[in-house]
Amino acid sequence: MSKVTVVGAGNVGATVANVLAHKDIVNEVVLLDLKGNMAKGKALDSWQQAPIDYYSTKLKGTSNYKDTKDSDVVVITAGIPRRPGMSRDDLIATNAKIVVSCTKSILEYSPNPIIIVVSNPLDVMTYAAHKASKLNAKRVIGMAGILDTARYRAFLATELKVSPKDIQAVLMGGHGDTMVPLPRYTTVAGIPVTEMIDSKKLDKIVERTKKGGGELVKLMGTSAWYAPGAAAAQMVESIIKDENRIYPCAVRLNGQYGLKNTYLGAPCKLGKNGVTQILDLKLNAAEKKLLKASAKHVDKVIKVFSKMKLV
Ligand code: NAI
Ligand code: 2OP
Repeated sequence: MSKVTVVGAGNVGATVANVLAHKDIVNEVVLLDLKGNMAKGKALDSWQQAPIDYYSTKLKGTSNYKDTKDSDVVVITAGIPRRPGMSRDDLIATNAKIVVSCTKSILEYSPNPIIIVVSNPLDVMTYAAHKASKLNAKRVIGMAGILDTARYRAFLATELKVSPKDIQAVLMGGHGDTMVPLPRYTTVAGIPVTEMIDSKKLDKIVERTKKGGGELVKLMGTSAWYAPGAAAAQMVESIIKDENRIYPCAVRLNGQYGLKNTYLGAPCKLGKNGVTQILDLKLNAAEKKLLKASAKHVDKVIKVFSKMKLV
């Protein structure tokens, strides 16, 4: 028996629940939101899709934390998304309170869940959930790297006229404009990407990736949900099936890359106990410099969170 709760039934939360239901890998998905009727409606709508798309995952919408009892994995998507002109960091005043309160409410009914945070500013909200939950850091993980890497892979697939399935890549750092895509670790069906594309075009794609979230906010007036929802569901899948897939996630670094006591995107293995290993890649000097700059930026926002004294 496995149960997953998704907190926040907005664009991203409802997508996570729907994608997870389609995977047919957990018995029940609970979708919780302050707006209980919206959560109930979206869960019912997803359940009515089951006979068409052939899955048995039960779905329940609610605003009552009692319904989340004994969840194995909890995905936190509650909070406001950014609007045009806003950075992810601008969301901290509102979202820190929401993420801390949702984490505490979850813990009342599920004492030892694995928590996947999606709310922004991502790295800092994952740090906040870790502090608020007091869970082992291996059990509190942020979703951003899979999404950012997917954007990079999708842009490359378009440029190279290949299937996105054939592009593998690593991207590290914070979920913001300081993220660090790593062309040295990017391959196209096993071929180093640098043999397939000239460096100017690749640099352009790297820059577009860094601003990939903002591009969608400009187009839609709010942030993305299909790829973010699918990315969080992919993390849940690796955990529930104990697959040990390697994904870039926001993890608590404890000496890796010379960084400590912070949450930052790095490749890690995800299994039934959460993060089973953080891969400590041998970055070159230029890559290290970019990662340090990204960590510095995230640490600044962590300080803003700490000053809020919510935990
Ligand atoms: P949305 O506005 O569509 O949904 C947010 C939902 O959270 C709303 O339904 C709202 O009622 C609910 N909510 C607010 N406070 C709550 C509380 N205390 N308890 C329960 N529910 C509560 O927003 P969307 O687009 O789903 O985005 C959600 C968050 O995810 C935003 O912070 C956004 O920036 C972030 N995001 C992060 C991504 C990432 O890569 N990590 C990608 C996309 C979005
Ligand atoms: C994204 O990258 C806004 O973090 C969100 O789409």
